Amino acid sequence: MQVAHTIPELRAAVAQARAAGRTIGFVPTMGCLHAGHLALVARSRQEATFTVVSIFVNPTQFGPNEDFSRYPRTFEADRAACAAAGADLVFAPTPADFYPAGASTWVEVEGVSAGLCGEFRPGHFRGVATVVAMLFNAVQADVAVFGQKDLQQLAVIRRMVRDLHFPVRIVAHETVREPNGVAMSSRNRYLSPEDLLRATAIPAALAVARGLVADGEADAARVRAAVAARLAGEPALRVQYVGIVDAETMAPVDRIAPGRCAVAIACQLGSTRLIDNTLL
Ligand code: PAF
Repeated sequence: MQVAHTIPELRAAVAQARAAGRTIGFVPTMGCLHAGHLALVARSRQEATFTVVSIFVNPTQFGPNEDFSRYPRTFEADRAACAAAGADLVFAPTPADFYPAGASTWVEVEGVSAGLCGEFRPGHFRGVATVVAMLFNAVQADVAVFGQKDLQQLAVIRRMVRDLHFPVRIVAHETVREPNGVAMSSRNRYLSPEDLLRATAIPAALAVARGLVADGEADAARVRAAVAARLAGEPALRVQYVGIVDAETMAPVDRIAPGRCAVAIACQLGSTRLIDNTLL
């Protein structure tokens, strides 16, 4: 497996792979890789014949009071995990190299970015869309794989790709979960074993929503209330939002159209912010 730290190194390696007739899959990450990320690498290897993983803790998607400085940086372990998972190339630029000095270009995806996490993390999706656009431009992949866990991020990226005509196919991969059902996240390592147990209220609340919809409930307010009630059963969780939304536009819905909607949750558990969702 190769490692590139600069865009010219990355482009040379990708050009060589293309010249050898390989198709390019791309998995963007911020490192601190877990089994969820490695499932994305495996998916990319099914979709393409040369897989690039980027490892870049993107400063522009963190708010001033968020965990940018303490976000875990575990490059050596990540590199080894990528190699073991069969990735072909790791792209790990430094922020100083990747963002040119004085960079002043932003990608803003309006509407889809506004609600849910967008409300609680102003500027977050502007940072995500901008860095993903930069990464897409650097890697020039045929296909890029994103986790369903970050449902709003996925919707933002899909919209950006559509609106800006990026020649890349977006593949969504299902959320990978801990054995207790909690969605895998790099931030889970901030949680104590007790907190990881408390966090199970989140997938349990999602299961309540799925159960109600499977039984024919279509009223979003009723489903939302049932989800909120289940979350309230775990007093350590401070709920930021429970949203019943259209899975493509992220707009709130009043009636649940099965197969088109999702319930999305964000909670604070101590100083750790957790998100999860399920399609309905
Ligand atoms: O999902 C993530 O890890 C990040 O938001 C991403 C897509 C790598 C952009 O920094």
